[in-house]
Amino acid sequence: MGRVGKEPDFGVPEYSMCDDGIREHTFHLGIQGAWATRVVVGRGALGGLPASWPADAARAFVIGDANVLGRFGSEVAGRLRRLGVDATLLPFAPGEASKTRRTWGRLIDRLDRLDADRQSVVVGLGGGVSTDLAGFVAATALRGLRGILLPTSLLAMADAALGGKVGLDTPGGKNRVGTMWWPLAVLADTSLLASLPSAEIRHGVAEMAKAALIGDPALLDLLADQAPGLAAGRPPSDEAIARAAAVKLDIVERDPLEGGERRVLNLGHTVAHAIEAASDWRVPHGAAVAVGLRVESRIAARVLGFPDEAARRLSGVLDGVGLPSSIPGCRYQDAAPFLVRDKKVQGGRLRFALPEAPGRMTRGDGGWTVAVGPEIVEACWHGTD
Ligand SMILES: NC(=O)c1ccc[n+]([C@@H]2O[C@H](COP(=O)([O-])OP(=O)(O)OC[C@H]3O[C@@H](n4cnc5c(N)ncnc54)[C@H](O)[C@@H]3O)[C@@H](O)[C@H]2O)c1
Ligand SMILES: [Zn+2]
Repeated sequence: MGRVGKEPDFGVPEYSMCDDGIREHTFHLGIQGAWATRVVVGRGALGGLPASWPADAARAFVIGDANVLGRFGSEVAGRLRRLGVDATLLPFAPGEASKTRRTWGRLIDRLDRLDADRQSVVVGLGGGVSTDLAGFVAATALRGLRGILLPTSLLAMADAALGGKVGLDTPGGKNRVGTMWWPLAVLADTSLLASLPSAEIRHGVAEMAKAALIGDPALLDLLADQAPGLAAGRPPSDEAIARAAAVKLDIVERDPLEGGERRVLNLGHTVAHAIEAASDWRVPHGAAVAVGLRVESRIAARVLGFPDEAARRLSGVLDGVGLPSSIPGCRYQDAAPFLVRDKKVQGGRLRFALPEAPGRMTRGDGGWTVAVGPEIVEACWHGTD
């Protein structure tokens, strides 16, 4: 799909907080004027399905892991059928291990056998594995189908289903194959979080803490207030989830293709990805992000004057939620070989996306990252906060 011009022309984002507590963020991406995504976060957001459904689409293919389709598939299919849409559920085995070319190939073949056509719509239902995979199937089947994402995990509502990145893992690493693809709508119905396991709640909170540090310091206060409930596995408030989503959407709107500012969404992830790789992907992403945020906020304190008390405050909130401060057996020396494989490395030098202050990320020399020497990373790896 051709992209014209370097600087896409964005429309004005619209935010509204409805009386029923649903926060709606509508954004229009100006790439050839072709992409516009409506994002709704809140209890009952699934009720937005009719308003988001394209009038010419009579067939829906609902792609999600078997866990999630077993739980919510018939509810979603029922809603589609009431719209007069023929809905087919296409489950795959739950887990990151399914986010592969093999599963993608099977789903593409199933769409072929079921005679999916250009008017068909892919509905991605589930956590980030489901929305990444369903999105990639939609982006590639018949050279690109329309889709709607219905995230069901906290991580997917606050992060993975937003922003247009879809893709797969390969033996070479996570998300090594993928593209940008924009769904018609993302409807994040927070009432679905009631059944999410408590560990998955905590992992989503790590990404929300990241969003707070990047662009909404008051969100960290909300998470601090809610920490006892979060530690017990209760979902955050709709307000908190919508605010985390808004931080990401604002940035993606300004820089959808990651030419610069979007790199700030990598906060905590330079360290997190190295921890995950060093553990051979046994450490859950959210746990690695929690450690990454702590280490990188200490690095920011060293190199950018990020306030020490803000780094301690972040750590206190993560502690309160039950997120780890370090990973046993993962010392700096264990992770260092994986740090240098980071996508932001330039000329062999490590680069980090770092905050100057809570809610304000550094622009660096214009590329939104700063070079940091390994001795500083090592010194900040094991903190005392
Ligand atoms: N595209 C992006 O921008 C982006 C950003 C961040 C993460 N990701 C990707 O997201 C993935 C991780 O997402 P995840 O943590 O949601 O994992 P996941 O999709 O595997 O979901 C975690 C588990 O929770 C279950 N689940 C989901 N919703 C549920 C619910 N409401 N009730 C009960 N169980 C439920 C799932 O079946 C699964 O077992 C990774 O593959 C990561 O690469 C993508
Ligand atoms: Zn992440």
